[in-house]
Amino acid sequence: MIPENTGPAAVIVLAAGAGTRMKSRTPKILHEIGGRSMVGHALLAARSIEPRQLAIVVRHERDVVAGHVAELDPSAAIVDQDEVPGTGRAVEVALQALDAKEELTGTVVVTYGDVPLLSGGLLAELVATHERDANAATVLTAVLDDATGYGRILRGEDGTVTGIREHKDSTDAERLIREVNSGIYAFDAAVLRDALGKVTTDNAQGEKYLTDVLGLAREAGGRVAAVVTADRWQVEGANDRVQLAALGAELNRRTVEAWMRAGVTVVDPSTTWIDSSVTLDEDVRLLPNTQLHGSTSVARDAVVGPDTTLTDVEVGEGATVIRTHGSGSTIGPRAAVGPFTYLRPGTVLGEKGKIGAFYETKNVTIGRGSKLSHLGYAGDAEIGEDTNIGCGNITANYDGEKKHRTVIGSGVRTGSNTVFVAPVTVGDGAYSGAGAVIRKDVPAGALALSIAAQRNTEGWVPANRPGSRSAELAQAAINNSSSTPASTEEGK
Ligand code: UD1
Ligand code: MG
Repeated sequence: MIPENTGPAAVIVLAAGAGTRMKSRTPKILHEIGGRSMVGHALLAARSIEPRQLAIVVRHERDVVAGHVAELDPSAAIVDQDEVPGTGRAVEVALQALDAKEELTGTVVVTYGDVPLLSGGLLAELVATHERDANAATVLTAVLDDATGYGRILRGEDGTVTGIREHKDSTDAERLIREVNSGIYAFDAAVLRDALGKVTTDNAQGEKYLTDVLGLAREAGGRVAAVVTADRWQVEGANDRVQLAALGAELNRRTVEAWMRAGVTVVDPSTTWIDSSVTLDEDVRLLPNTQLHGSTSVARDAVVGPDTTLTDVEVGEGATVIRTHGSGSTIGPRAAVGPFTYLRPGTVLGEKGKIGAFYETKNVTIGRGSKLSHLGYAGDAEIGEDTNIGCGNITANYDGEKKHRTVIGSGVRTGSNTVFVAPVTVGDGAYSGAGAVIRKDVPAGALALSIAAQRNTEGWVPANRPGSRSAELAQAAINNSSSTPASTEEGK
């Protein structure tokens, strides 16, 4: 038997507004904080209270928003608002769409697509209060120092909520009220349906106001109440990029604090940015100026930073990642990366492996204990275990048209500045000399040398650069040594 869903009948997320103050070609609610779109945050909070149905109302940039929502939450119903403006109309069309399947009974929750810090916990509290007190409508409110622009909560002598007055429709006296409507509510479905039928556009903005439902519900004899939150961030919307940044910083502060409470050391919370989707184990240490994005995960005892940006990177237990820019990569347990390392997608570094300073890697699998310590590029390659790649080695993987693979075995030692001209294979235990250009496969255990013989043209500098400081010093050295036996002349 499927366990009975105890969540509300529906959550309706309002997202039809234009968001012009963002001044962006991207719809407002697709702007991101904490690595997730604002509507993404709103949908997660809505889902967390397990509604039987979830609808989102769209209109402005309809196709872009609907496409994004379908990706994030394929079972959310997308409802189009018509040309009648207002939050009341938005809820009305959603309710009609949901009722078309089966007339809703019980609690209907309304939230906004542009209020990204609203938590599932606060929504659950709103629903619990609403249902416990058998209210007709329950509104989430906050008391603000500056309530300009918000709908004001009207209360009677005895403190009961009597209605909401929009800023533009309010009197001077009402404008002194600092308790504001967050725009987030729990309604009884039947009350909401009846009241919306009576809401008019007779107001300062010519819109169907959802806020009118509260007064109408009360007139119909229902109980109307408020849940006041002391956490104003949870009801704050982002209308422009200044508010977006403020909400992003607050979200990050909360995320970083939650990880510290979960056992992660964050040396400098103010310069550490962690997306909502990142996961960290206990005893991870994050050093200043570290940004962790996407599906990045960091295992126990690993140290990341300073000055490191990782996107979709898996960091293994006890690994260190210093001053690194990485994406789409896996760093094995106790491996070491950095400083000044660029990991591109497809990099897989084995246990106790190393990718050192000024290395770029892409689409490369590096076996356990293998080291690429300094200055080079490894792309489209496979490297075995306990191999040491010398300083300045590169895989020449691109012939100008196609990419080719380099396969290097285990226990290999390559000389400085070896170039692997792919496709090429180097067997286990092979060595290469400094400056080798490996164009042919190297058998296991072979030493590969491809150095041209060195030729010294004696006296070239004094003869060809007369009067230079080099020539002067060279001449002095030559004069000095002419009394002693001849210097060696290599490989002539
Ligand atoms: C609304 C409330 C106000 C409250 C404030 C909180 C009304 C009449 N007023 O005002 O009391 O203090 O929110 O932020 O409800 N939307 C639609 N369709 C529409 C209009 C709006 O889906 O036709 C959506 C918007 O995308 C947005 C939300 O509803 O997510 C609120 O719209 P907005 O225009 O910001 O309402 P306010 O006038 O600020
Ligand atoms: Mg608004």
